[in-house]
Amino acid sequence: MTDLFDKIQKNPGPLGMHADESYGYFMFPKLEGEIGNRMKFRGKEKLVWSLNNYLGLANHPEVRKADAEAAALYGLAAPMGARMMSGNTDLHEKLEKELSAFGKKEDTILLNYGYQGMVSAIDALVDRHDVLIYDSESHACIIDGLRLHVGKRFVYPHNDIGNLGKQLERATRLVKDTSGSILVITEGVFGMSGDQGRLADIVALKKKFDFRLFVDDAHGFGTMGKTGAGVPEEQGVIDKVDIYFGTFAKSMALIGAFISSEKRVIKHLRYNSRSQIFAKSLPLPCVAGALKRLELLASQPDLKGSLWKVVHALQKGLKDAGFDIGRTSSPVTPVYLNGTIPEATNLITDLRENFDIFCSVVVYPVVPKGIIMLRLIPTAVHTMEDVAYTISTFDKIQGNLKEGKYKSDKIAVV
Ligand SMILES: Cc1ncc(COP(=O)(O)O)c(C=O)c1O
Repeated sequence: MTDLFDKIQKNPGPLGMHADESYGYFMFPKLEGEIGNRMKFRGKEKLVWSLNNYLGLANHPEVRKADAEAAALYGLAAPMGARMMSGNTDLHEKLEKELSAFGKKEDTILLNYGYQGMVSAIDALVDRHDVLIYDSESHACIIDGLRLHVGKRFVYPHNDIGNLGKQLERATRLVKDTSGSILVITEGVFGMSGDQGRLADIVALKKKFDFRLFVDDAHGFGTMGKTGAGVPEEQGVIDKVDIYFGTFAKSMALIGAFISSEKRVIKHLRYNSRSQIFAKSLPLPCVAGALKRLELLASQPDLKGSLWKVVHALQKGLKDAGFDIGRTSSPVTPVYLNGTIPEATNLITDLRENFDIFCSVVVYPVVPKGIIMLRLIPTAVHTMEDVAYTISTFDKIQGNLKEGKYKSDKIAVV
């Protein structure tokens, strides 16, 4: 027998194994000061490209005012209890109505956290007779939802519609015997690579197969589509996406999330989503704050316009400078470089300490061995100077990488 605590100490997990050397710098870094394009890291101002504050709403004066007023009016405690028991309010229902109208769906359920909400929604929607089919690059919250499913689940290679067709054929054969149903789950915008789920192509498969489509549009809500209603709007298939998930944690710069669909589906989720039934309701200041953000998002297209000006300048500038930004078709901007994990560590240190740029870095096993992915999240509050400085700096660090400068043990901090 092994003591549990001794065992976990010996097996800290793929991220935990780097805890001691990376805490506070590569993992759990602290960005301080007003949320924006420039924040303090270890006491020094950095140009920040790692916050999902797409529309710049985190520090919009009207948002800050609404947040402060709601906190003063309601406090952070209210409402007490889960929605179903004692935590329902007019404001929660108002937000659900407004989200439904904005997304052109019959009804909406608010979620305390998107992650838990997604896990429970998948759990609530399917039983052992049903088949889940999902994209191989799906977010962890989808994967955790799938883990609860006791029936069959089939994966298709990322955005491979031909293969999805094959999985649908397999699933269709299976559910004929069990009288089950098929649910296809994908993302609107894939948060790492920035490419869109091929929703229009998936929807086209409905002509041949019977299934329902569930889209996690965490990064697309507020950033994509003519009105900001997301990737289904962008691809002209709002009415064909059966279940739509959005979070407040990205373009809304808040916390909480929602799922919109037909009335009968939302009713089912209200009474069967365990993470919502058995957890405290979203605090009222978050609900009031979300209403204000939704109002701005819907009434001020300039916010999305400013975001996209920065996105276009950054992505075009990087491409023109010869960088590989992969297949993004959203604000998420990956920059792929070739190098080892130690080189990535030195490169990021150089970028942060000598050039004062703070962005996220992704290495193996999230990307293939030998690839360093720098991930930039442009926002409406970045400037053209930020873009120009970043591209010229990336040029320098790519040069250093090619010259083998980051192979050395320690990078000199100027
Ligand atoms: C694709 C995707 N789905 C779901 C979530 C979870 O949302 P939340 O932060 O509201 O829990 C995230 C957020 O990180 C995400 O990127």
